[in-house]
Amino acid sequence: MSTATTTAVTATTTHFDAAARDWDQRPMSQQMAAIAPRLLAAMPLAATDRVLDFGAGTGLLAAQIAPLVAQVTALDTSAAMLQVLTDKGYANITPLQGDIFALAPTALGPFDAIVSAMALHHVADTAALLRALAALLRPGGRVALVDLYAEDGSFHGDNAAKGVHHLGFAPEALQALAEQAGLQDVAFAEILQVQHKNGRSYPLFLMTAHKP
Ligand SMILES: C[S@@+](CC[C@H](N)C(=O)[O-])C[C@H]1O[C@@H](n2cnc3c(N)ncnc32)[C@H](O)[C@@H]1O
Repeated sequence: MSTATTTAVTATTTHFDAAARDWDQRPMSQQMAAIAPRLLAAMPLAATDRVLDFGAGTGLLAAQIAPLVAQVTALDTSAAMLQVLTDKGYANITPLQGDIFALAPTALGPFDAIVSAMALHHVADTAALLRALAALLRPGGRVALVDLYAEDGSFHGDNAAKGVHHLGFAPEALQALAEQAGLQDVAFAEILQVQHKNGRSYPLFLMTAHKP
């Protein structure tokens, strides 16, 4: 595994380092397996594409994308989450430990596409995150980002301990930030309803856009 930056120890890294070993066995993770085919139907990828998976974790999304493309860079701050991915042995997935904000756009990419599942709500400054993602795309490159619609905090429950900075997102607000970051044709669709062990179901959105 490559290390791009020194990663600060935060609630987010502490939480995911501890969660890594059992991540793929969680009922929630198993439901999330449905994300990849739906995302790919909305944003088809080419065999020559180089793709960034932001907040890739154990590679639930990256592993389904990798067989279809040339290369996937799996960026995550959690060394333990990426170790689980590394152990899966995908030849064309490059696990990269680092913080998205500490990467120089020229050091990576540019990417043909950026995907992400359930990582946006762990980043405090969404506007800066979308600018960073846009900077890593080639002109004409595309993003497909999955996260929670605005919720009441019950999805994670202990939000602070899990490094949760946003209780989901309102599409209009996220669209405005994406457009300010230079992305165009921003569109939202519900991609999945996940059943939580608390008995409730939570809708997830897919946001697609491209860099002109
Ligand atoms: C809820 S997990 C999702 C993992 C994976 N995408 C999935 O669907 O299973 C969010 C991931 O984002 C990573 N993450 C959070 N903030 C990050 C940042 N600033 N830079 C890179 N990765 C980050 C966490 O370490 C964690 O592995």
